[in-house]
Amino acid sequence: MSKTKTPSESLTTMTEMIFPNDTNTLGNLMGGNLMRLMDVVGAICAQKHSNRIVVTASVDNVSFKEPIPLGSVVTLQAKVTRAFSSSMEVVIDVWAENIPAQERVSTNKAFFTFVAVDQTGRPIDVPQTITETEEEKELFDGALRRRQLRLVLAGRMKPAEAVELRSLFEV
Ligand SMILES: CC(C)(COP(=O)(O)OP(=O)(O)OC[C@H]1O[C@@H](n2cnc3c(N)ncnc32)[C@H](O)[C@@H]1OP(=O)(O)O)[C@@H](O)C(=O)NCCC(=O)NCCS
Repeated sequence: MSKTKTPSESLTTMTEMIFPNDTNTLGNLMGGNLMRLMDVVGAICAQKHSNRIVVTASVDNVSFKEPIPLGSVVTLQAKVTRAFSSSMEVVIDVWAENIPAQERVSTNKAFFTFVAVDQTGRPIDVPQTITETEEEKELFDGALRRRQLRLVLAGRMKPAEAVELRSLFEV
């Protein structure tokens, strides 16, 4: 297994059309259905990075900026921002497109964390991330802060240990 990988090596794009079964009573895509698609594209991306089975460990805040109407074409793009030991932070961007009207809007962005596991479900190390662009470097740098925040919120890290977040917890 290679010890490092770039985000572009696991970049994953998924395109779906929104059908009546996917929508709520207003005729827009149901939030839960969108989250399922985000989970799937993120897991594929994390699998490509690690070449392992992955499980979803956490989902950061997901905001629904714009409704996605029936008939829209939704594009989801997932990219590894940073790998730690067994976990990988993946950023997922979502756009909705009305192809006949030639309109495309950004509708969602969220950070998911996936953990690579062996056949028995035990966490296993993954390749580290090497960034290639300025945007990837910014995401890489911010990933440590976001990791500490989510681990504190999950009760897996003491706030005092979250050195990247000191300014949020100390006055
Ligand atoms: C995620 C899981 C594998 C972690 O296993 P664990 O025995 O707690 O292992 P560890 O404490 O060693 O943590 C392993 C990694 O998971 C990360 N992790 C654990 N909980 C996390 C959380 N809530 N948010 C983000 N990362 C988390 C740890 O930071 C660690 O990352 P690192 O190896 O890169 O440092 C385990 O909790 C699990 O299997 N959860 C269920 C996953 C699942 O079924 N998902 C689908 C839900 S429907």
